[in-house]
Amino acid sequence: VTAGGRAGIRRASARDLDQLTALWRAINAHHSHLDPLFTERSEAGAEARELLRAQLADADMAFFVSERAGELVGFCAVRVDRAPPILVEVERAQITDLFVVESLRRKGLARALVACALEWVRARRVGRIEVRVARGNHEGQAFWRSLGFSDLMDVLHRRL
Ligand SMILES: CC(C)(COP(=O)(O)OP(=O)(O)OC[C@H]1O[C@@H](n2cnc3c(N)ncnc32)[C@H](O)[C@@H]1OP(=O)(O)O)[C@@H](O)C(=O)NCCC(=O)NCCS
Repeated sequence: VTAGGRAGIRRASARDLDQLTALWRAINAHHSHLDPLFTERSEAGAEARELLRAQLADADMAFFVSERAGELVGFCAVRVDRAPPILVEVERAQITDLFVVESLRRKGLARALVACALEWVRARRVGRIEVRVARGNHEGQAFWRSLGFSDLMDVLHRRL
């Protein structure tokens, strides 16, 4: 049995759109406590659903979801991008989103979701993956470092 099988993980489909939208928005809610710049507009629901619909149909993206008793309890989204044409690297991957419901954290669910995403990336023969993590997101920082991810770039910003 693969990691995906143990944790009830499968690829998402358009049927998951409503539940996936709710989980996706929970990531924004989590981040809005870290910095107001992550706060969603009040009418963001329909927009978020349409964005996700497009991403689900994108052949360069994959969504892995974990399901318990018919409910989605976590997901991981991954995308393959072209590198700038002047670099020796041709393609790179990025984890665009990762979330596990609070009641099921620290049980290895995110690790299993990410394992499925990495398997998908490797199958496409892409040799490197990035993730953007807010400095103040302590569980996110600890999680990615536990999987061997390390610092590459600092995103600096300044309010004007
Ligand atoms: C980050 C997140 C996805 C982790 O999900 P999870 O299912 O709890 O993670 P796992 O159980 O697979 O954790 C694997 C390892 O990561 C590390 N880790 C995870 N959460 C941690 C925490 N809160 N503090 C310290 N280490 C942590 C541990 O090493 C853990 O292994 P261990 O439990 O055996 O010690 C989850 O906390 C979450 O959804 N947070 C809100 C959204 C978010 O921040 N997403 C990431 C954005 S980049």
